[in-house]
Amino acid sequence: MMCHVPGEIYEVPCAILLWKEDSRAYFVPVIDLPHTDLAFDFPHRHYHIDGRFEIHPRMVHRLQINDGHTAMILLTENSGLYDFKGIAKQKLKCIRIETGLAIPSCSEKYLDWYEGYVGQICKEKRCPHLGTGMLERDGKLVCPLHGLTADLKTLKIIMYDCP
Ligand code: FES
Repeated sequence: MMCHVPGEIYEVPCAILLWKEDSRAYFVPVIDLPHTDLAFDFPHRHYHIDGRFEIHPRMVHRLQINDGHTAMILLTENSGLYDFKGIAKQKLKCIRIETGLAIPSCSEKYLDWYEGYVGQICKEKRCPHLGTGMLERDGKLVCPLHGLTADLKTLKIIMYDCP
């Protein structure tokens, strides 16, 4: 994943959400990799929010984004909160270098899934799960999608450190 500099403007893929509460359209930056998560029994196609970029305060609040991290994902089918209208590039300011899914808990299913990747190599700093660019955090490489974490030197996935 490209290294972004806080304060700089970038063209970023954004989900266009027609928010039902106020009938307004909001552009929410996303990591451009729609997918399903059958391993976690989640068959719905979705995007993950890219919290490295400026997001409208109403969306920060409604999507519960804290320091660029959230447990919410954006469904490409319509939800009770919004109609998903597609993806469009927008010029947005980078405000931090980190983002990622706030993993709700260290569930047994997640840990079992994670263990299957331990020791795999992140070629060119890409996640062995779906090929996402990994981000550097605290001297490690962390995937912003589902949290696989690698050693920065060996590029190998290391055991999950359950908080
Ligand atoms: S894409 Fe799922 S952990 Fe990286």
